[in-house]
Amino acid sequence: MFFPRYRPRRLRASAEIRRMVRETRLSVDDFIYPLFVCPGEGVRREIGSMPGNFQLSVDELVKEAAEVKSLGIPAIILFGIPEHKDEMGTGAYADDGIVQRAIRALKETTGGLQVITDVCLCEYTSHGHCGVVEDGRILNDPTLDLLAREAVSHARAGADMVAPSDMMDGRVEMIRDALDEAGFDRTPIMAYAVKYASAYYGPFREAAESPPQFGDRKSYQMDPANAREAIREAELDIQEGADIIMVKPALPYLDIIRLLREEFDHPLAAYNVSGEFAMIKAADRLGWVDGTAVMLETLLAIKRAGADLILTYFAKEAAKLL
Ligand code: PBG
Ligand code: ZN
Repeated sequence: MFFPRYRPRRLRASAEIRRMVRETRLSVDDFIYPLFVCPGEGVRREIGSMPGNFQLSVDELVKEAAEVKSLGIPAIILFGIPEHKDEMGTGAYADDGIVQRAIRALKETTGGLQVITDVCLCEYTSHGHCGVVEDGRILNDPTLDLLAREAVSHARAGADMVAPSDMMDGRVEMIRDALDEAGFDRTPIMAYAVKYASAYYGPFREAAESPPQFGDRKSYQMDPANAREAIREAELDIQEGADIIMVKPALPYLDIIRLLREEFDHPLAAYNVSGEFAMIKAADRLGWVDGTAVMLETLLAIKRAGADLILTYFAKEAAKLL
């Protein structure tokens, strides 16, 4: 290379030329917007650490979903805050559970919007863990049956896709079998394949009222130090029948997104989690960063790393700008 024969700045000289050689583009098609549904009527309770995000009763959820759809966002992912929590998280798989009622209402009103459901127990259990607890341990196999029941009850209510987020071993296969047996062989599974035990979930646990009441999630969610293990986890979920695999969180794990992009051909999702959202919002409020610019750069980086889909609390804001 004979400097300055090649000058990289030539292709940066104007907005037009930058547009022509741009490698990555964000699109509203990439976004999945998380929503929290709670009991009651007319409830629209803002989540303190997640400005612009709310706990919504079913009637309010339907309005919010209509707005999401009108912005061109193709999908939402639903989280439920049940009336009662118990040891076995029965609200998770009750036919008249909060998420099941929400799905039915959405399907009656907001046609075309893809309704994905988070399949997990932590929002529904009194102990706040993602599985069945015995003597302070989180049991794997007894949890699988409950997750499968939850997924089938979501599908029966009309869910377009289910997304297991529990990190129990073998749950994708159990859920696939149960869905197929119940006649839902066309319902895709988006597996939280690579989900780390992350401190970035803090604001979500306020939103979903789901912090573990004892201990932590480190015996089932992945160690943030591990990358090679991410390949094994993704491989297992794919073998078990996952249609889409997910990495979570996103921004501190861009290397993992890239790794999975290179290893697998399946559609890859990344969850830009609550703590990632909250940090940008907080810094913007303090006037320390330009929140809008940082948001767009962050989402672009997640896509550039290799994500096809981004679950993000920024979806509405970003959609308005794109
Ligand atoms: C439930 C679940 C969590 C998130 C998504 N599904 C919380 C957790 O595992 O503690 C986190 C999402 C976010 O932080 O935005 N298992
Ligand atoms: Zn959980």
